[in-house]
Amino acid sequence: MTAQKEQWASRAGLVLAMAGNAVGLGNFLRFPAQAAQNGGGVFLIPYLVAFVLMGIPLLWVEWAIGRHGGQYGHHSAPGMLDRLGKSRLLKYIGVFGLFTNLTVAAYYCYIESWTLAYVFHSLKGTFRSTPPTEFFPAYLGQHAGSITSLPPEATIWFVVTLALNVWILSRGLAKGIEMAAKIGVPLLIVFGVVLVVRGLTLGTDAPGVVESPLTGLNYVWNPDLSGLKDFNVWLAAAGQIFFTLSVGMGSIHCYAAYVKKDRDIALNAASAGWMNEFVEVVIGGSLLIPIATAYLGLAAVKGATAGGSGFSMGFLTLPSLFNNWGWFAPVAGAMWFGLLFFAGITSSLAMGQPILAFLADEFGAARAKGALLFGGCTFVLGMWCVWLYPGGSFDEFDFWTGTFSLVVFALLEVIVFAWIFGMEKGWAEITRGADMKVPVVFRYVIPYVTPLFLAVVFLGALVQPEGGDWGEAVRGLLAGKGWSLSAGSVLGKLMHVGDTGGWHGPNGEVTPRMVKDLTRILLSLVFLTCGVLVYVAFRRKERRAS
Ligand code: ALA
Repeated sequence: MTAQKEQWASRAGLVLAMAGNAVGLGNFLRFPAQAAQNGGGVFLIPYLVAFVLMGIPLLWVEWAIGRHGGQYGHHSAPGMLDRLGKSRLLKYIGVFGLFTNLTVAAYYCYIESWTLAYVFHSLKGTFRSTPPTEFFPAYLGQHAGSITSLPPEATIWFVVTLALNVWILSRGLAKGIEMAAKIGVPLLIVFGVVLVVRGLTLGTDAPGVVESPLTGLNYVWNPDLSGLKDFNVWLAAAGQIFFTLSVGMGSIHCYAAYVKKDRDIALNAASAGWMNEFVEVVIGGSLLIPIATAYLGLAAVKGATAGGSGFSMGFLTLPSLFNNWGWFAPVAGAMWFGLLFFAGITSSLAMGQPILAFLADEFGAARAKGALLFGGCTFVLGMWCVWLYPGGSFDEFDFWTGTFSLVVFALLEVIVFAWIFGMEKGWAEITRGADMKVPVVFRYVIPYVTPLFLAVVFLGALVQPEGGDWGEAVRGLLAGKGWSLSAGSVLGKLMHVGDTGGWHGPNGEVTPRMVKDLTRILLSLVFLTCGVLVYVAFRRKERRAS
């Protein structure tokens, strides 16, 4: 069966699949770490503002682009973008919708495979004898000074995870993805609620507890207006909204393409988006930080989450804390990592489907063949992350594909939608068949506020100053002292700020810089290949039409 003939079996299934796409590792690992790094409640207001002014409008725009494209038989971003205007270049903006899904899937499935391995080890009782702080680096093949690694166990779990993804994808939309979401999303919510109740009811007299878990909860949940003044908190909040909602990826477009022309998208998009926020703020915000606070104290939790995207804390810390829970420890571990696994797989399936759909729509590839091709590409790219993990390949993928690309694609697509397709047609597309009244203010937010917001986020990330003090940086610039880029800014990364070494160390050994550069070359080649495939597909179509 080709992608064109597939359909969602039910509306509930569609919303759960979309929610499953959004609810992912970002909700339970990245959100708490980002909140803790950015002052807890200080983070909350910029985060919610970013959700309303950027997240919600982008959800509506992507659902609208998707359903519109689906009417013309397009289920992936290149064809959909092509349909929004006359320029022949628009389809190349859609290349992001292939590139991002493929490359994010590669490193995301690797994290997903850790969760599966941790379910196994929790049940086996591994963490009773081996602390996760020892287990985790060994599992990943990280040894002092190592750049490459081929950790056998991590590789096996990665292959198992990919095989599961390929199998579910090959079963199709209704029997595969929708079924996985119908099982996975409710189950992860149940696991989450059980763990939240267990964590929050930990008394201060329980063994090992040093502080009330409610102190951690308060820290995350107590809104504080002072965050509004800090531009870096805004950048972090906007980045989290992107990641958690899966906007700017091309996966929402694909799922929405299977919605019929006159069926609601407005309420569906809002429901999936709000469900994600509920799971992220209410469940995600009540798990990692409160439990870790109970056993380690808030000050230690803030220290542990400093720097990095925060994916590793759940693997390094939580399993040993669960050991305080007696007979429930292995079950709690299996629930926590099982929850992460379900959250992860319902997101990675959404990254695979656009690739299958592109191959089916443009090259007539059958579903099983498409799923295998997706699995094969993800394996090759993912093994790059596995092999060069200690050298930093994984972090490069996370930054360029899981952060930077999303902002670029979202900025371009919202401009195309609002200003080339036009807001009149765009608004009609969003509201056709709507089961809710879309607040009319969004008719103006989408063309003006969202692109401006995105452009500021983009520029902010591009030239973020060293130390993050924007006022100081601007004063320095005006005083003729130039602009000192932070090593973490986009330009700083490209220019290797703070890294004076070369591709080889003193003894001729490979350096992290070489790994970074080679990873960037690899990612550029993947982008180029996706672009060439789009070119070939459209040439074939033109030839057939003439
Ligand atoms: N939206 C997915 C997540 O939060 C990618 O992990």
